[in-house]
Amino acid sequence: MAVDNVVHVNECGLPLNAIEWLVTHHESKAFERECMIRDQHIAQGSFVVDAGCGPGLWTSLLAQAIGPEGSILGIDISTEALVTAQKRSAHAWYRNQVQYKRAVLEQLPVDHGAADIIFSANVSQYLDDPAATFAAMGPHLKDGGRLIVKDIDFGTMRFHNIDPALQARVFQARERWEQVRVEQGYAFEDSWVGSKLAGYLRAAGFTNVQEHMYRVRRKNPLPANFRYYLLGIAEWFTCEGAPFLSGEDITNWLQCFFDEQQNVLDKENFLYEETEFVVSGMWSAPQTRRYFEFYQELPLVPEREVLLAVVE
Ligand SMILES: C[S@@+](CC[C@H](N)C(=O)[O-])C[C@H]1O[C@@H](n2cnc3c(N)ncnc32)[C@H](O)[C@@H]1O
Repeated sequence: MAVDNVVHVNECGLPLNAIEWLVTHHESKAFERECMIRDQHIAQGSFVVDAGCGPGLWTSLLAQAIGPEGSILGIDISTEALVTAQKRSAHAWYRNQVQYKRAVLEQLPVDHGAADIIFSANVSQYLDDPAATFAAMGPHLKDGGRLIVKDIDFGTMRFHNIDPALQARVFQARERWEQVRVEQGYAFEDSWVGSKLAGYLRAAGFTNVQEHMYRVRRKNPLPANFRYYLLGIAEWFTCEGAPFLSGEDITNWLQCFFDEQQNVLDKENFLYEETEFVVSGMWSAPQTRRYFEFYQELPLVPEREVLLAVVE
């Protein structure tokens, strides 16, 4: 389970709770993220656990969904993220309905059968055994409660005005790196996790698993926050995928994003697409075993017959 292998920084030195990057990323996809929460139809008054809440960027969307009677518990392994989350909600209308605690997904500080919803965004990519972690979270849900997991999938990313062959090599290098990085002493990461989530939820024992896909498309002119997000992604690919990329590919790739003349983000024909996955599953509490008094209906076997049967 990820509890022994919690990721704090990646190889670029980018902390997972790099607040500025996370905030800008969140704002750059504000429209899609609003839809993601709205489409889940979370009931007013729900108790929601935001598992791996980071700096609390989803809190306001969750608060809108649950209304003034609901409550939210954000948990994260990172104290810095939790302090930021606390500050962000300190003056919001929902401030008295929100609490943040330091904890791990595998050991939620919540009674069994207490939560209506466990929501977890952009965390499953760091879980080395997602099905085991989801199964550990299940019992904290009420009977019929739901786990909602949101994550990315690099297999769905396309830059339409970058050489497809270069793009394919960059993605392949990244995928190969994610397959071997644990052996090299780096923490687990699966940036292709989005399309696998439904399978993980089923394997963890959730039923009525539903997958929603959100196509994120941006074209020229690119909003400043989305540009910042893409520049972060582009750099991330090369620093972590570098062991499997030629020097020439690294130079060409970075030129696409950082060269003033050849910058693909500024071109008229710029078009970027990716798909984000939101998967939900229902938890059913194990039924208490019922013992029927069958023995009352069974004919009693005379002692002598039993003894004879044994002797023969
Ligand atoms: C990429 S951030 C996402 C934060 C937030 N959910 C969002 O979407 O903006 C991942 C967060 O998961 C936390 N995290 C990773 N593994 C964890 C674990 N096993 N238990 C608790 N938190 C974890 C990290 O500390 C980090 O804040």
